[in-house]
Amino acid sequence: MKDVKFIRINEDNINLIPDIIKIDGEDIQKKDMEKFIINCDNYCFAGIYKNEIVAFLYGYGMLRPDGKSMFYIHSVDVIPKYQNKGIGTKLMEYVLKYIRYEKKYYKFFVLTEEINIRACKVYEKYADKEEQVLFSKNL
Ligand SMILES: CC(C)(COP(=O)(O)OP(=O)(O)OC[C@H]1O[C@@H](n2cnc3c(N)ncnc32)[C@H](O)[C@@H]1OP(=O)(O)O)[C@@H](O)C(=O)NCCC(=O)NCCS
Repeated sequence: MKDVKFIRINEDNINLIPDIIKIDGEDIQKKDMEKFIINCDNYCFAGIYKNEIVAFLYGYGMLRPDGKSMFYIHSVDVIPKYQNKGIGTKLMEYVLKYIRYEKKYYKFFVLTEEINIRACKVYEKYADKEEQVLFSKNL
């Protein structure tokens, strides 16, 4: 899978995105993504292979009251038939290189579950595992 091209989606290349993209079992409409990427602290990245989006990642910068910002990777997805071929790893590599180059964020973080072995394998290449418990509830 050497020919996968990675890009940050912006106003100039958003036309490469289909009208609806399935991420994490949910549909994201292109028109909503257009609004999302207007904010320069919101990021969408895609892996493209033979004109098809085979991988997608989105995240955002989070400003702390001390003025330091962290980058949160909210979602990483490789479409099932292309999983376990190194694309997720390359996508993370591309994104982290991109983010580091910007020098806006002092730290990045990403959440997953212990049972998601593939995700853990990919993330441990780039980050240290922290022992924390996440609590959440719909508002
Ligand atoms: C998680 C995900 C993004 C990873 O991307 P990917 O392209 O499949 O991952 P890669 O091929 O780059 O790497 C997978 C790694 O897991 C390893 N792996 C896969 N199955 C494994 C298993 N059963 N036991 C141990 N290691 C395993 C592979 O060997 C590889 O590690 P290596 O590069 O050291 O050999 C992708 O699988 C995906 O989209 N999964 C569904 C959505 C998801 O879970 N997203 C993350 C939510 S936080």
